[in-house]
Amino acid sequence: MTLFERLDEYAGSGAQAMHMPGHKRNTAAFPWLAGLAERDITEIHGFDNLNDPEGLFARLEERMAALWGADVSIPLVNGSTVGILASVLACLEGGGELLMARDSHKSVYNAAVLSRAGTRYLTPRLHPVFGFPLSVTPEEVEAALDAAPGVKLVCVTSPTYQGVISDIASIAAVCHRRGVPLLVDEAHGAHLGFGGFPGSAVAQGADLVVQSLHKTLPSLTQTAVLHIRRGLVDPGPVRRCTAMLQSSSPSYLLSASIDACVDFLEREGQEAAHRWLEALLAARRELSGLERLSLWDGGDGVFRYDPSKLLVGGPGLWLERKLRDTYRIEPEYALLRHVLAMTGMGDTRESLGRLTRALRELDRQAPEAPEAPLPAAAPAYVLPLGQALASPGRAVPADRAAGRVSGEFVWSYPPGIPLLVPGQRITGETLAQLSLSPNLHSTYNGAPNSIFCVDLPGKIV
Ligand SMILES: Cc1ncc(COP(=O)(O)O)c(C=O)c1O
Repeated sequence: MTLFERLDEYAGSGAQAMHMPGHKRNTAAFPWLAGLAERDITEIHGFDNLNDPEGLFARLEERMAALWGADVSIPLVNGSTVGILASVLACLEGGGELLMARDSHKSVYNAAVLSRAGTRYLTPRLHPVFGFPLSVTPEEVEAALDAAPGVKLVCVTSPTYQGVISDIASIAAVCHRRGVPLLVDEAHGAHLGFGGFPGSAVAQGADLVVQSLHKTLPSLTQTAVLHIRRGLVDPGPVRRCTAMLQSSSPSYLLSASIDACVDFLEREGQEAAHRWLEALLAARRELSGLERLSLWDGGDGVFRYDPSKLLVGGPGLWLERKLRDTYRIEPEYALLRHVLAMTGMGDTRESLGRLTRALRELDRQAPEAPEAPLPAAAPAYVLPLGQALASPGRAVPADRAAGRVSGEFVWSYPPGIPLLVPGQRITGETLAQLSLSPNLHSTYNGAPNSIFCVDLPGKIV
């Protein structure tokens, strides 16, 4: 019986709920909760506790570990974010540095801040036209580890938001030769290893792998899983940190969605992934003849790519507007020279056909993509993240901030990868990059069009 079925059984049992949540399933009084509140309970008798599993959640963990081939799998209801925070905190409790890809999601930076770990960056090469980061190489990881014996955890993102996959098996081997565990942020790759998709980092030897079920699989937003390989990582502290950071009232709606997703994958995950991949390959064939636009097919020296992300080169912001306004298609994100359509297991030949027809029509009208400068020199990091965040400073108008040191994160959301991190020297190029980035957000919201800058000792401000 799935957790949804158990919840339905309880809802229909006539039991009086003298327990949380406060809506008491009274959908007559609160009609906007209809369809949700009936299955929304708390940790009552017979329904186990996600953060301290003994019954149905212990079995769910075993099923997930068997499905993905992990030693331990922990279901998460606070997204991949909480899996990343818990992994970094657990591995760096005793001190040490975090070696992380500079294109990491902001949750990895937040984990570094919370753990007070020193950070070192791997800086993958950028795509020469689109500007997104390409694969992290085993050689880069090896050189960085040789230069930094204090590193206690390596973290890379694979696949990236744009679908770039790194050689996780070789990177894991490099890390393991030095006794350092590897965390792979596979938030965008929960489907990897199913059907004909490239393999998951779990099967390539990574020690910790975090996946957002909600991003590509049939599960509700915020649902995720953290897989652990025993050996270099002790699952105990990771589990303790997960329970510490996750809500102490994990949603049963989200938990039941994880359970149902796993049930579906066990029954027909392989076939569903094959159907999705075939529809994707058909769509990719349809788009291979584009003339003004171009479909990225994973060339440009990347190790591998995830075909589920349809990245179309061309005037990105124009394409996004046309797709939205003329075709009622909402892309995931767009920048000056590309637009990204994310697909998932819920896509069909029909949904992808609607997208390919629209793109083929737009191909005939598309203007030239505007020029977009790529970030130039590698940024200089003047202060450690935590020290810069805690330093006194002031808001400086962005057009006068060149030469100063940032005291905050600034990112474009999506994808949530910081363009500027605390402690980083702000250059003219950084400012140009920020001015071209849509949907900017920052940790400091005190003054518009300004950057919170650190007052460096001895410097006149
Ligand atoms: C690369 C990457 N990692 C981690 C996350 C966090 O995942 P979640 O939203 O499941 O917390 C995201 C979210 O967009 C992401 O893009």
